[in-house]
Amino acid sequence: LNTPGSVFFIFGATGDLARRKLFPAIYSLYREGKLSEDFAVIGVARRPRTQDEFREDVYQSIQEFGRYRSDLNEEWNTFAQHFEYKSLDINNIDGFRELREQTESLETKFGIPGNRLFYLALAPELFGSVSFNLMKGGMLDGAGWNRLVIEKPFGYDLESAAKLNEEINQVFKEEEIYRIDHYLGKEMVQNIEVIRFANAFFEPLWNNKHIANVQITLGETVGVEERGGYYDNAGALRDMGQNHMLQMLTMIAMEPPSRLLPEDIRDEKVKVLRSLRPYASSDDVAENVVRGQYTKGSAGGKELTAYREEDKVHPESNTETYFAARLFVDNFRWAGIPFYIRTGKRLPVKTTEVVVEFKRMPGNVYLGQKHSLEPNLLVIRVNPMEGLYVKINAKKPGSESEIEPVAMDFCQSCLVGINSPEAYERLLHDAARGDHTYFTRWDEVASAWSFVDKIAQSWRENQGQLEHYPAGSWGPQKADELLQKDGFHWWPVN
Ligand code: BG6
Repeated sequence: LNTPGSVFFIFGATGDLARRKLFPAIYSLYREGKLSEDFAVIGVARRPRTQDEFREDVYQSIQEFGRYRSDLNEEWNTFAQHFEYKSLDINNIDGFRELREQTESLETKFGIPGNRLFYLALAPELFGSVSFNLMKGGMLDGAGWNRLVIEKPFGYDLESAAKLNEEINQVFKEEEIYRIDHYLGKEMVQNIEVIRFANAFFEPLWNNKHIANVQITLGETVGVEERGGYYDNAGALRDMGQNHMLQMLTMIAMEPPSRLLPEDIRDEKVKVLRSLRPYASSDDVAENVVRGQYTKGSAGGKELTAYREEDKVHPESNTETYFAARLFVDNFRWAGIPFYIRTGKRLPVKTTEVVVEFKRMPGNVYLGQKHSLEPNLLVIRVNPMEGLYVKINAKKPGSESEIEPVAMDFCQSCLVGINSPEAYERLLHDAARGDHTYFTRWDEVASAWSFVDKIAQSWRENQGQLEHYPAGSWGPQKADELLQKDGFHWWPVN
């Protein structure tokens, strides 16, 4: 499982993602023996930094965010040797030529066979020019492979995404591109496939005959924090919907792949996206999608400011910080079954959960039950709690005929000794090994955009569709009505 010897280039090395996720992930891989000594990391950013200062940044980041921080001191001197910094103006080709020399000397020092992984933790507007300058500066002429790893947002709509893709494609082939959706790196998202396809309990029932609806909730307690500038332009639909929410939906809805190969799996996922029923009109969007923005509120005795008062947010902003939608996957497996998805900032709980609600049993055939039976539920807890929870009906002990719902709860994150890898560890490791499974392919990205664009267009035309909800609440009431129309309700998250 070792990664082949390679140089990791982290563009945006002084930024937040590098500090919180990437450096700690690299150390975890090293600590677990998934990186041997034949690797190097070159941090690239504009600001000047000495090698020692940069190594100090890396050290601090692992101390703060690393899973194995307590082991760091022992190995630090050896580990730190693998890290170098390059201050670079990304518009200056000469800088790339210097980077090439630096790279070659590191490759010689650590016996690395010319494999290069370029991780762009940068604004997407820069992806095209950085790719181009990598080529012009001779950075792609090494003896090994070249791979490009890019972060979201991948475009703003289908058109801009296609343009961005075209620019990157002038330098990198699709199979060299790794588009990150970090939700696909989460342990429990990956587990969805295993739970479905490895259990006789679930797969035979996984269709419109037995399932009544599926609910995906991705709640966050944070507001926009210091990202107002980006977020006010994007909004929840683009920030979470186009990517994480739809990707989780594909994992729930996809057909079993014929082989466990990246392309076979991604083929099945894109089929789900293509089967999403597009909203036919603005009225259709208004009826099926709810959009909200938080006003001031409170949580845990703390006052929370309104979205419009957040830093770098326009005081009359109509950007949504919440959305919920009712979707249909129009294929043989799912026809007629609603999928409800919702996500928002400043909700009461930080959680990602998938609830699969099964159809109700036909009435009180057996026991003289006064109330209708509760449906069976399968709850997949993705984040931050990880686990699985099944709600079944059982006889109430001591009673004649009363039935009550009981839970079978598997809490993965409660098990001693389980310290789930961070999404970025898994994804970096996969990219370095050349495994595309948990990265989004261009046709997936494009299909997701074309679905989302219809919603965005309708919102643009009807700004009045924005609902408000107090910070710290579960979002607009209209989101409850989405389900009530179908005779369902959101299951409370745990
Ligand atoms: C990011 C979004 O992709 O995901 C953020 O841009 C969001 O707005 C984050 O906060 C949530 O990720 P996680 O892993 O903390 O649930």
